Amino acid sequence: MSAAHQIDVERVICRFADISDPGARGFTIGTGDWPLRGFVVRVREQVRGYVNHCPHAGHSLDLEPHSFLTHDGALILCRSHGALFDKLSGYCIAGPCTGRSLLPIAVELEAGFVMLADAVDVSALARSVGALI
Ligand code: FES
Repeated sequence: MSAAHQIDVERVICRFADISDPGARGFTIGTGDWPLRGFVVRVREQVRGYVNHCPHAGHSLDLEPHSFLTHDGALILCRSHGALFDKLSGYCIAGPCTGRSLLPIAVELEAGFVMLADAVDVSALARSVGALI
């Protein structure tokens, strides 16, 4: 059986090749009132995942789909009030929530796909974000 046949399709976020370098991509997984809304960001051959929820005022970071980075692609940008975050750590380095961090989502690369890590409990994570709103 090939690796592609062993992939848990419910945990697939996107193909790694679908994320430009630098680039980011939003996703929604789950159903109901609180699906998990997140995004993945590529840093060369690595990828990181975060909940799409700004620690400042709780807004989604992107005002347009998949628009999570600064113009030069160097940092994550919250388009509501301009907070800037490091791509690898999610740490806010400037803006109204300096010193706070994006909520990470464990992701992994498998057979060319960006996947939610097995340990991620989608429902629990989505509910925890809902409780912050
Ligand atoms: S909600 Fe992100 S900077 Fe204000």
